[in-house]
Amino acid sequence: MTDHSGVGFLGMANADTDPSHRPSSARIYDALLGGNHNFAADREAAKHLLAAIPRAGEMARANRAFLNRAVQFLLDRGVRQFLDIGSGIPTVGNVHEIAQRCVPDARVVYVDIDPVAVAHSNDILKDNPLALAVQADMRFPEAILEHPGVRELLDPAEPIGLLLVAMLHFVPDEDAFPAAERLRAALPPGSYVVVSHGLSDTPADAAIDAVTALYRRTDVSAAHGRSRDEILRFFGDAVLVPPGLVWVHEWPDGGDGDPHGTAVVAAVGRIPAAS
Ligand SMILES: C[S@@+](CC[C@H](N)C(=O)[O-])C[C@H]1O[C@@H](n2cnc3c(N)ncnc32)[C@H](O)[C@@H]1O
Repeated sequence: MTDHSGVGFLGMANADTDPSHRPSSARIYDALLGGNHNFAADREAAKHLLAAIPRAGEMARANRAFLNRAVQFLLDRGVRQFLDIGSGIPTVGNVHEIAQRCVPDARVVYVDIDPVAVAHSNDILKDNPLALAVQADMRFPEAILEHPGVRELLDPAEPIGLLLVAMLHFVPDEDAFPAAERLRAALPPGSYVVVSHGLSDTPADAAIDAVTALYRRTDVSAAHGRSRDEILRFFGDAVLVPPGLVWVHEWPDGGDGDPHGTAVVAAVGRIPAAS
């Protein structure tokens, strides 16, 4: 039977679905970051990715650093709860660490399609009653919004930080735009949407065939950049905070990275009060 709910359950893997045999985007990213939550197949895929896009490791680190700064920005504006979709492997400096160091009762729900990422997350979070990880697919936003863990931890009356960081480029257009719209619509006024995304028409596009072929062997069906206008569509009516959509290292105050050869842009938008 095919499960169309978008929510998976741990412990269902069998010999055919053994995650150690098939690279996953979460674990390739972990390998790029120098983490140790990955298998030989993931490290091999990361090697191929670096051959195709030599600055992929640098981009991954700059992206993680952006995520940290964006979470701090939201905390400084009073956001106390986070829904992090496509959260990946929880290495040092993850959302709950940053948030709960600053505000001990901040709440975080991580969502990822990769069962290994979710299992690692829940292992790390087992003594943390204010954070949990859910295995689900962004393409099925209703399953995320209705998940008992999401409903228990996140108060729909209070602003939420919706994080879609370095994950939308793994989701095809026909799913990504409607799913982002549905998730945004569920956010109360004063919430924030945080997006980072691979940009099209960059030097990394020269490697698009190799990258597409590589990710086709993983758990995600697409891996492609979008134009600035397409990326801005993910914000809907949310009002971008300065400096708008910029290279990921330029989002304040990420230092002086060199944009040449990078391909990831980022922005943060605020959901306005209902008129
Ligand atoms: C490059 S990692 C980004 C991790 C983290 N957001 C960060 O920026 O540090 C992309 C993550 O998106 C997840 N992902 C891809 N497609 C997804 C989907 N349809 N639903 C949920 N997660 C997805 C992958 O499993 C992976 O963990």
